[in-house]
Amino acid sequence: MSALDSLNLGVAGAARRGGSLARAMEVLDFARVHAVCDTNPDGRDAAKTELGASEAYRDYEEMLDKSDVDAVIIGTPMPLHVPQAIAALERRIHVLSEVPAGVSIDECRELVQAWRRSRATYSMGENYVYTRSNQTVKQLVLAGLFGAPYYAEGEYLHELKDLNETTRWRRTWQTGIDGITYGTHSLGPILSWMPGDRVASVACAGSGHHYADPRGDLYENEDSCVMLCKMRSGGLVKVRVDMLSDRPHATGNFQLQGTDGCYESARAHGEKDRVWLRSRSKGAAWMDLDDLVEEFMPETWRKYGEKAAAAGHGGSDLIEIVDFANAIRDGSEPEVGMHEAMDMTLPGLVSQQSISEESRWMDVPDSRDW
Ligand SMILES: NC(=O)c1ccc[n+]([C@@H]2O[C@H](COP(=O)([O-])OP(=O)(O)OC[C@H]3O[C@@H](n4cnc5c(N)ncnc54)[C@H](O)[C@@H]3O)[C@@H](O)[C@H]2O)c1
Repeated sequence: MSALDSLNLGVAGAARRGGSLARAMEVLDFARVHAVCDTNPDGRDAAKTELGASEAYRDYEEMLDKSDVDAVIIGTPMPLHVPQAIAALERRIHVLSEVPAGVSIDECRELVQAWRRSRATYSMGENYVYTRSNQTVKQLVLAGLFGAPYYAEGEYLHELKDLNETTRWRRTWQTGIDGITYGTHSLGPILSWMPGDRVASVACAGSGHHYADPRGDLYENEDSCVMLCKMRSGGLVKVRVDMLSDRPHATGNFQLQGTDGCYESARAHGEKDRVWLRSRSKGAAWMDLDDLVEEFMPETWRKYGEKAAAAGHGGSDLIEIVDFANAIRDGSEPEVGMHEAMDMTLPGLVSQQSISEESRWMDVPDSRDW
C-alpha cells in the first residue's frame, strides 16, 4: 500500500492477547483500532470500549467482509492463526499474526501460497525479536562485533499447567503434542542474530513425563524438550522449551557465541545481560550490555523507548506494532515477514516429527521453495 494516511485495524481475540497487543497502536497517529472481534461477548464489549473501537463482531469473516479494516491482528488460539490469516490475505487485508505462524507444515505451506497470491503484508508477532536487549545484540552483530556467530542457545521455561485449564486450546496444541510446540520466542531472536542463515535440520529429545493434568492424564509433551538445530552455515543452535516443570519462569534465556564475541542474557532477577567483545572488552572481562545500549540501540527504540516501557513484554509489543504499521505505510518488509516467520516456526513443527521417530535428524523445508 502506498501513500497510506490512515490505517484501520481489526483485532481478533480482542478480549485477550489480541487486545493487549492492539493497545500499543495508540502511539501511532496514522493508525487506530476500528473493529474488534471475539467469540466471548463480555470480553468483546469490554475490548471495544477499552480500545475505542467503532465496531464489534462475533464472527471473524463477517468483520473482514463488512468492516472497513485495512489490517488485522490475529490474537486467537494457535490453530486459528493460519485459517484466519489466509481469510484476510485473500481479501488483501494485512496480517499481524500471533505466534507460532501455524500448527502443521501443510497449513504453513498453504499460508505461504496464499501470501504469494495476495498483495497484502504478513508479519508474525514474534515480540521477543523486538526487546531492547535482543535488538541491541542484533545491532552488535550487524556492526561485526561478534565476528561470525556460530552457536546460540534459547530457553523458554514457563510453567503453565493452570493456564492449560483456563485456556484449553493450550492443553491440545502446546502440552498435548510432544516436541517443540512453542519455540519461536527462543528461536526468533537467535535467527535475527544470524542474518542470512536458517535452520537446515533438527533433532529433538525430551526429558520424560513427570506431571499429570487434573484428570490424571500425563501430558503428551515431555517436560523439557530440547531441539538441536543444525544451521545451513554449519553452526549449531540449541532450543529448550519447558511448560510443565515446577520452577520459576525464565522465558528469555539466551546465549550467542561468535568468533569475536559472546553474549549471555541475565538468568535471574537482579542479574544483568552481559557481553564479551574482543574489540571492546578489557581482556577476558565481561561488559554490561546496558553500557552499549545507548550507542547501538536501534532507531525505533530511540524514538519510542519511553512509551514502550509502559507496553507489554518489556516494550517489545509496541516496537513490533510500530514495525508492522510502518511496513504497511511504507510498502516495506516487516522485520518478521513471511519467510522469517516460517524460519522460526517450521523447525518446531519438524521437531515434533523427530521426537516421534527416536530423535532422528530431519530436514526443515525452506518456504522460499514453496
Ligand atoms: N507473543 C506473546 O508474548 C504471547 C503472549 C500470550 C499469548 N500469545 C499467543 O496469543 C494467542 C492467544 O493467546 P491467549 O493467551 O490470549 O489465549 P486465550 O484463550 O486467553 O484468548 C483467546 C481469545 O480468542 C477468542 N477466540 C477464540 N476463538 C475465536 C474466534 N474464532 N474468533 C474470534 N475470537 C476467538 C477467545 O474468546 C479469547 O478471548 C495464542 O496464539 C498465543 O500463543 C502470545
